[in-house]
Parts: sequence; structure tokens; C-alpha cells
Amino acid sequence: MAQGQGRPNNSMKSPNRQFSAGNGIVNVDALATKRKALAQHRKSLPIASVENRLIEEVRKHDTLIIVGETGSGKTTQLPQFLFNAGFSGDGKVIGVTQPRRVAAMTVAKRVAEECGGNLGQKVGYSIRFEDVTSSSTRIKYMTDGLLLREALLDPYLSRYSVIIVDEAHERTVQTDVLLGLLKNVQDARSKSLNNLQNTKNQKTNDDMQSKENGAQGFRFLKQYQGRTPLKLIIMSASLDAKIFSEYFGGARAVHIQGRQFPVDIFYTHHSIQDYLDASLTTILQIHLEEGPGDILVFLTGQEEIESAERLVKERLKQLPENSQKLVAVPIYSSLSSEHQMRVFAPAPPGFRKVILATNIAETSLTISGIKYVVDPGFVKARYYDPNKGLESLVVVPVSKAQALQRSGRAGREGPGKCFRLYPEDQFGKLEDSTKPEIKRCNLSNVILQLKALGVDDITGFDFIEKPSRSAIVKSLEQLFVLGALTDDCKLSNPVGIQMARLPLDPIYSKALIVASEFNCLEEMLISVAMLSVESIFFNPRDKIEEVRTAQKSFASPEGDHLTLVNVYRASNEFLEKRSGLSKEKREKAFRKWCKDNFIHSRSLTNARDIHRQIRGHVEQMGLRITSCGDDVLQFCRCLAASFFLNAALKQPDGTYRALANGEVVSIHPSSVLRNRPECLIYNELVETSRKFIRNTTRIDFLWLTELAPQFYAMQN
Ligand code: CDP
Ligand code: MG
Repeated sequence: MAQGQGRPNNSMKSPNRQFSAGNGIVNVDALATKRKALAQHRKSLPIASVENRLIEEVRKHDTLIIVGETGSGKTTQLPQFLFNAGFSGDGKVIGVTQPRRVAAMTVAKRVAEECGGNLGQKVGYSIRFEDVTSSSTRIKYMTDGLLLREALLDPYLSRYSVIIVDEAHERTVQTDVLLGLLKNVQDARSKSLNNLQNTKNQKTNDDMQSKENGAQGFRFLKQYQGRTPLKLIIMSASLDAKIFSEYFGGARAVHIQGRQFPVDIFYTHHSIQDYLDASLTTILQIHLEEGPGDILVFLTGQEEIESAERLVKERLKQLPENSQKLVAVPIYSSLSSEHQMRVFAPAPPGFRKVILATNIAETSLTISGIKYVVDPGFVKARYYDPNKGLESLVVVPVSKAQALQRSGRAGREGPGKCFRLYPEDQFGKLEDSTKPEIKRCNLSNVILQLKALGVDDITGFDFIEKPSRSAIVKSLEQLFVLGALTDDCKLSNPVGIQMARLPLDPIYSKALIVASEFNCLEEMLISVAMLSVESIFFNPRDKIEEVRTAQKSFASPEGDHLTLVNVYRASNEFLEKRSGLSKEKREKAFRKWCKDNFIHSRSLTNARDIHRQIRGHVEQMGLRITSCGDDVLQFCRCLAASFFLNAALKQPDGTYRALANGEVVSIHPSSVLRNRPECLIYNELVETSRKFIRNTTRIDFLWLTELAPQFYAMQN
């Protein structure tokens, strides 16, 4: 492919051109030099020149909308500006919410570094299952979901002087709900402030008449000081500020001028069958034929990214040694903290970096050094069909807005190139923008949260965009059959209240509560933790037989849930036996053990982490953690009692039919269930070439009417 012309033709030429390195390498040893460089970098950001103006705007307006291109410095700089301007006086906190865990973590690390302190001190972060803050934290990054949970305990969010809702254009469910909640909180805080002010004035008049009331007056003053108006800042990368402005009663919006260099866009001649393969070919073509600069590739999920990582390594080995200087770094939401920072580190001298990312790198993360973007044009999204009660995770084409964001990433620091792996006429057919998640997801979780926050009338809640009535009704029904709601649609006591307290999907929270009654909470805790990560087993298409053999020692004839429990326990045993080793050696051995068994070590490590956390929650709630031991039937019955909404029955033609919605489904090839039982439960429905159910366990059909009569009697 010649520079500046041509298109990726996805046929590799013989590698004969050597790549000359030179992407800025920072000397990390000299701390002082680094400080200076950081300070300089901060000054050079587009937002730096408007610091005073922004602070003025925040002082003047209680609600402000800030729009600025990715990389202009919104996320890292604005909270620091506010801190320096005294917005965190009186021990108050400046809160910044992110739709994604990784963004909250990495940005907090970066800002702590810029402030010259340790993470968890002045700057910290808090996400589900991980809290790195202290009483001295003044700038706190967190997920929007976490702030919603905090509101359960502190309805006025009184610790916060400012809340910044970042990446609002992403319109995740949690962001949308949070915006509604914050609108209420802001209102309530202003009102209570006014009331207190009035009462205080009244009080002062009274005091002048009666000098004996001095002490009481002081108490009042203290209470009054504790309540300040809530400053709200909505930040977004896209240009569409109108919807937010209108929602907040015509709130002021300011635009930050960003930097954008020209980006050449290339399309393929024809549609592509295997975009993963095409991505690899394009990566290597860029690497071999283009000038210096890092590559950013957009893929759809952890599994795909991990195979791409492996394939890049394999293909590099086939090149001459001097062409092998390419390092692949993955980034996706559930990546463990030890790995995520690698994406920001420059490649070693002489190397080029290729970042394999999900849509997280569209706007949430700013990674410097990118000159090339490879965009297959797909994204994994959750879709929910309320009529069928069917939730599925599907890979769909991106929207125009997303495609533009993606290509924009190549032109932040200089002119760049973007390779779209689809023909040009395809671009015109894309949707303009992505539909907000609240319009296409199961609302059970949201409704449970709102109910716990005291919002009883869900249809009356002031959503920025209302979900459909049928979706609300279906989710209410679901919560009702799970026992979370009473007949008059209030949270049930204790089940509904307990479910709202657990940071899990309602169906998993319920499973833990049910399991404590079935004396198998130990097994259920492990299952839920293992089901909360993307995928435990590798499933390379070319090695199916090898995977099967490796999995034999864990496989349970009952199905995937017990298999996951076995894997978890085997990992425990493995690590316990090596408790004498140094941490490093132990981890190395663990990674090898995982590799030999076709287990994603990152997923398993994550699951072990999550297990520890939910175990803590469950203990706090006073649930009894016992094991059913060898009585696996007891555990399977518990699975039926918990996941009865996801049961499927075998049809005469050998396919399965989901009982709740009548959909025809197939067992995913990754399942250990081979003997095709009559009836089973599953945890996930993914739609790819067919509708597949994943994580399945065999159950007895009769258990359903026995254990979930509230649902199966109703369904007849
Ligand atoms: O939020 P916005 O996209 O406007 O920008 P930002 O995230 O505040 O990033 C501003 C700059 O900080 C970027 O250009 C990155 O070079 C740098 N940055 C970084 O080096 N490491 C991070 N973890 C985050 C930001
Ligand atoms: Mg940002």
C-alpha cells in the first residue's frame, strides 16, 4: 500500500520494508523531568487556555454543560481547576462519574500523578468492588452506577460540592438515571437551603428578642453550613448539547475548541467476511508500510481482543526479525488494573504499539501517539425485546457518530489515517447516532434502584428520554416474580431490600438469597462471581478438541455452573499449594496453569476478586454461607429456583425452546453439556448466527412448577 493512496486490500505483500522507529520515549527515571513534562503537557491542552472562563461559568451557573473533543483535557483538568478554585472547601468532594470502570481507574491514576500525590489521597477512585479513596480524597472518580448506590445511603449526596457527569453522550442507562436523580437532588438541596435560610432569618429575629437561645442558634448554623447548593456539570464529547441543555431547563452550554488534524479515510473495495482476519492484515500492512505512529484497532469484546492479541504475536513470528517490532496491548472494561496502564506506556524504543480496544477507546480514554485507526465498524450492544422478555448481546454496526469519533482518534496530534473495513457506500447506511441504552435494555435493575431510592412511580420519573411503557411493565413483572416487589409494587421486605443492596443484576442477587435457604451459598457465590466476568475458558476455533481434553478434569455432567465451581476450587487448591512461593513466582505459575487449561487468567483473577467482594456483602447481610458438599442435586435445584426465568425445554427436533418467551435457542458450543438434557436453565442468551444460550445446567422440568409456582402456575 503506497503512502497516501490505495486502500487496504487485505492481501499481505512480502515484508521487505523496515519500519523506522521514533515515537517519543519518555525517560521515566528522572522524576523532576517527568514532573516538568507533565506540567508542560497540561499547559498545552486546549482546555488550559479557558481555565478562568470555565471557573467563572461554574460560579455563575449551578448547571453547566461542557462540550469538547476527546483529548481536550476535560476529564483530567476540569476537576483540578475546580479544586484550585476552592470548590472542595469544608471537606467537600468534587465527584466525577464515568460510564466505565477502566476510565475511572486510569484517569484517577493519571490525575494523582499530575497532582504529585499517591492515588487514594487527594485524588482517588471508587468503582464496584474496589474503593481507592480516603477521608482526604477531594477529587473522586467513580462509575455512575456507584454514585447511584451512594445516593441510597446519602440521598442529598451531601459530601459533594460539585458533581461532573462525564461522557454523557454515551447515554448509558446508569448515566440517564443518574441525570434524573441529580436533577432531583439539586432541587432538593436548593429548596432545603432556602428553607433553612428562611428559618434562620426567622431565628435571628427571634434571637434578638430572646438572648437565651444562643446555643440553639449555633446548632442551626452548623446544619446550615453543611448544606450547599449542588453544582452540576455535564460533559460530553459530541456536539449535541441541546438535549442536555433542554433537560436542565435551558442550562448554559460552553464549547471548548479542540484540535483536529486531517485524517485520510480509506474504505475496502468489497464487503468483508471475517473482520478479525481483515483487521490483522491491515495492522501488519500499516506496520510494514507506513511511517511511525501507533495503531488503534476497535474490536467488540474481550474474547475477540484476546484472540487478536494472540494472532498478532503468531503472525509477527513469521516476519523477518527486524520487522517484528510491534507490541500489542489490549484494553477493555474488565481488564484488571495491573494491565490497563500498559496501554498508556509508550512502546519500547524502536517498537510500534498496536492497541486492541473495545469502544471504550472512542471517547472515554485518551491515549497519545495514535496515528492510525483500524475500524471494522462493529460494536457489541445489549438489546432487549420487552414483548418477548428477551435480552441479547449482539454485535451490530456502529453509528455514523461512532465511526466519526473513531476516525477522529487518528488526528489528535498530527495528520492521521483511518482504515474502515467496509465499502464506502456502507457508511451512508449507518444510523446517525446510537440509540440510548435505556431504550434497549432490561430495566429491572434500574427499577429496583429507583424503588430503593424512594421513587415509587417509575412512569412518572423525569427521565431524559422515557423508556417504553411495555419495557417498564415487563421489568416490573419480572421483579414481581423474583419476589422483589409486593402486590402494590413496593420493595418487599426483606427480599427486595436485600436485592437492591447487592451490586448485582437482580436475578443474581436473588440467586444468592435463594442459595442461603438451599444451603449452597458457597457454590452460588462462586457461580455468580464466575458468571460476572466475560468468559473463563478460551475457545480458539482451531483447537476445540484440545480445549475439551483440558476441560475434562473440571467438567461436571450436570453442566457449566458446577464446572465453573470446579475450576474455581481447583485454582484455590493450586494457589494454596504454592503459598510458600514469592508473589511473582506464584503468579507466573498461575498464569501457566491457566494457559495449560485454556483458562483466561485475567478473567479468573477478576472472578476471584469479585468473589471476595460479594462474599463480604453477603456476610454483612447476615446470610448463611454453607456448602451443599457432594449433594449436587441440591445445587441444581437451587439453580432452578433462582434462574427459572431462563429455562428451556428440548423439542422433538432436538432444538430448545425458552419457556418464558417461546424462542428457539441452541446450546452454545462452549458448553460442557453434551448429552442434550430434556430441560435446562441458562444464564445468557447471545445472538450471533443463531440464538445461543450460554452457561447451562440440566434440571428436572418438574422442579420448575414446584420451586417457581408464582411464575409457572401463571404461565400455565
Ligand atoms: O476528557 P478529554 O477527552 O477531553 O481529555 P483527557 O482525558 O482529560 O485527556 C487529556 C490529555 O491527557 C490527553 O491528551 C492525554 O495525552 C493525557 N492523558 C494521559 O496521558 N493518560 C491518561 N490516563 C489520561 C489522559
Ligand atoms: Mg474525557
